[in-house]
Amino acid sequence: MGVGLDIQGDVAEAVAQAATPNALCRFAIRTYGCQMNVHDTEKLTNLLLHEGYSPVADEEQADLLVINTCSIREKAENQLYSDLGKLREWKARQPGRILGVGGCVAQQEGQTVLRRFKHLDFLFGTHNLRVVPAMLRAAAQGERLSRTEETRSLKRFDFPERHPAYTGLQPSRAYLTVMEGCDMFCSYCIVPKTRGREISRPAESILAEARHLAEQGIEELILLGQTVNAYGRHDVKRGRTESVGTMSFAALLGRLAEIPGINQLRYTSPHPLFFDDELIEAHRDIEALCPHVHLPLQSGSDSILESMKRRYSVRDYLEIVTNLRRVRPDINISTDVIVGFPGEQEDDFEATLAVMREAAFVDSFSFKYSERPDTTALDLSGAVAPSVMQERLERLQDVQRELTLRAHGSRIGDETLVRLEGESRKGQGQWRGRDPYHRVVNLDVPANNEIYAPGTRVAVEIVDATPHSLIGELKDRLNTGYLAGNLAQELLTIV
Ligand code: SAH
Ligand code: SF4
Ligand code: F3S
Repeated sequence: MGVGLDIQGDVAEAVAQAATPNALCRFAIRTYGCQMNVHDTEKLTNLLLHEGYSPVADEEQADLLVINTCSIREKAENQLYSDLGKLREWKARQPGRILGVGGCVAQQEGQTVLRRFKHLDFLFGTHNLRVVPAMLRAAAQGERLSRTEETRSLKRFDFPERHPAYTGLQPSRAYLTVMEGCDMFCSYCIVPKTRGREISRPAESILAEARHLAEQGIEELILLGQTVNAYGRHDVKRGRTESVGTMSFAALLGRLAEIPGINQLRYTSPHPLFFDDELIEAHRDIEALCPHVHLPLQSGSDSILESMKRRYSVRDYLEIVTNLRRVRPDINISTDVIVGFPGEQEDDFEATLAVMREAAFVDSFSFKYSERPDTTALDLSGAVAPSVMQERLERLQDVQRELTLRAHGSRIGDETLVRLEGESRKGQGQWRGRDPYHRVVNLDVPANNEIYAPGTRVAVEIVDATPHSLIGELKDRLNTGYLAGNLAQELLTIV
C-alpha cells in the first residue's frame, strides 16, 4: 500500500500506465455545497463516463463512491467526517470498493484526511478533477494518493464534451463555468483558500461550450463563478482583453445571448463591487437575461460590512438595487445574509432588517456566522452568543417570509412562462417549474401529453401564492395544442 502523500509532477501520466480502468465499474457521487460543487460533480460524472464507468443512483450498487465536499461552515465540514465514519461499513461490505473525497474540504485539509481515515483511497482538490481517472487507476493498484495543488493553467477549464449518455441534471438548462476562484478574502470566508485565485476562462472556450450545449437542446444557461461578474475585470482594466481572449462580463452575456437556441441566461453569484453600469444596462438590453439577480448583501450595517471586508457600503448596495429596478422595474432580487458576525450589535442587526425591507428581497438565504480556519475574522472580538444568533436568525426569517409572501401575492394575475422541471413530490398531475424570476411555480399538467415534457416552457397564469411558491394554471391556448416554444417570443413581451 502506498503512502498518502501530496505528489507533485504529472501524476496523470505516471499512473495512467499502471492499469486500465474497470469498464464495468459503477460509480456514485455524493455532493454537498454550492452550484459550483454541483457542476464539478457534473464534470466528474462526464469525465468518468468517457472513461467507461457507469453512474448508479444507489450507492449500494456502486464500486466507486466519491464525496464532493463543502467547507463553507463548520457543520458542512463535519458532515464529511460523519459520512466517512459511516462509510467504513460500505467499504467493508464488498472487497475492492474504492472511496474518494474531493471538493473544498479536500482542498483545505489535504492529506490529513487520508491519514485519519485509513479506508479512504484517494483525495483530490478543487483544481484536480481532471486527474481523478488516473488516481482511480492507481487506487485500484493499492496506491493512496492525494492531489491538491493549485494550478493557474487555463487547462483546468478543458473537459471533454458531453458524453452521449450524459443528460445533465435538468433538461434544457445547464451550468456553464466562466470564472473560478476568489480574490476577495472576505474576513469570514474559506472560499479563497478552497478555490484559489481568481481566474477567467477564455471567452471562445465559454462560447464554444455554450454552442455545443445549445446544439444538444439546452435553452437556458446558468453562468457560474464565485464572483461571476468579476469575469475579465483585470484584463479590461489593463486593456489586454484581446490578447488573453476575455471581455467584460456584460459583453460576454451579450455574446451568449446571440447563440441560436439560447433563450434564458442567469448568473451566480455576482459581487456588489463589480456590479457596473454596463451590467445594469445589460439587464435593460439583453432580452434573454432573466429578471432575477441573486446579490449577496451579508449585512445591512456599514461597520459590519467593513469588518467583513466586503468593500461596499449599504448605500452602494441599495444604489445597485435602485438602478436595476430603473431599467427592469419587475426585477426580483434575492440575497445572502450572515447573522451574529463578531461585533454585531442589536442596532446593526436592525439595520439589516431595514435594508431587507427597503430592498424588498423576494428571497434570502440566511446563515449564522461560523468560524472558519485561517480567516481573519477569527481575530475579531465581540463574539455573539449562540442564543442571540438563533434569535436573530428567526427574526430575519420572519421578515423574509413576510416579504416573500408580499412579492408572491403581487404576482397573482401575471402571465408568465414556466420551464417545467418535472412532477412535484405530491404527484397526481401536479408539476413544478420555474418562471423567469426563478420562482417555483406549481401547476396541474394533463397526463400523457407529449407537449408537457420536463424542460419545455409553457404559458401560465399565476392564480395563487404561498410563502414558498406560486400556483399557476396553464393558458388555454396551450391546452389546444400550441407548442410552448411558439409562444415564447410573444409572451416574453408580457413578462
Ligand atoms: N461568492 C459569494 C458567496 C459564496 S458563499 C459572495 O461573495 O457573495 C455563500 C454564502 O455563504 C455567503 O454569501 C455567505 O452568506 C455564507 N457564508 C460564507 N462564509 C460563511 C461563514 N463563515 N459563516 C456563515 N455563513 C457564511
Ligand atoms: Fe467568500 Fe467573499 Fe469570495 Fe464570496 S466574495 S466567495 S463571500 S471571499
Ligand atoms: Fe462550499 Fe466550496 Fe461552494 S466551500 S459553498 S462547495 S465553493
